[in-house]
Amino acid sequence: MSAADDVACVLVAAGRGERLGESRPKALVEVAGMSMVEHAVRAIAASQVRHLVVVAPEANVEHMAELVRAHAASLATSTVVAGGATRQASVARGLDVVPAAADVVLVHDAARCLAPAELYDDVARAVLDHHDAVIPGLPVVDTLKEVDDEGGVRATLPRARLRAIQTPQGFRRSLLLRAHAAAGADEAPDDASMVEALGVPVQVVTGHPDAFKVTRPLDLALAEIVAARSRPAPKPAP
Ligand code: CTP
Ligand code: MG
Repeated sequence: MSAADDVACVLVAAGRGERLGESRPKALVEVAGMSMVEHAVRAIAASQVRHLVVVAPEANVEHMAELVRAHAASLATSTVVAGGATRQASVARGLDVVPAAADVVLVHDAARCLAPAELYDDVARAVLDHHDAVIPGLPVVDTLKEVDDEGGVRATLPRARLRAIQTPQGFRRSLLLRAHAAAGADEAPDDASMVEALGVPVQVVTGHPDAFKVTRPLDLALAEIVAARSRPAPKPAP
């Protein structure tokens, strides 16, 4: 792989986590004894990503920088910057400091802290080989219905063609910069939707069940179980 194929990851971790309802920012909440941001950095360090930019809450930049340092030894560069008022603003702050060597940029939510290294690699590989914009997605399990303001059903959506979209989302750097520059005042639901708004094709690849987003307390309980499952079993007492 040449330097032009360098992959960077912007890890957004600057949210407050209001729906989780913990006293500290969500990315600092612990899962199986380690903060969510550290889980994410560990997976990134085990992937082919070479440059990491972590976007932290303004008040926690120093603390997160310490946490990131502890896991980032295998990366070529790692930087921690302060985020903005919205996710989109936080991604933009991260993009500002992605090293010029990186031609591919992955954007990942720290809230999807258990996304495995192979998912980052699958998305990066799909960008390097085939597509300028790649997002992981899984089939939807619930029946989805569109409703009116009163809750009356307007339509049942055909599920076969629907995907629940995750992160990391991967892009040619120049395309992602263009999408952010063109984005309007309303916050976009994700980075891919800004690319879609440019009329550029976006490709879905198979996501991973462990890349679910920790949003509410029930998700945190699930994360504990998933993290414990992948942790090596303790050695039996002699
Ligand atoms: N995020 C961010 N900057 C913001 C808002 C969100 O970096 N101003 C990040 C979060 O840290 C998270 C990801 O975007 O990793 C997805 O956002 P979400 O799950 O909504 O996290 P929070 O905004 O922290 O949670 P909530 O909406 O419940 O407050
Ligand atoms: Mg949020």
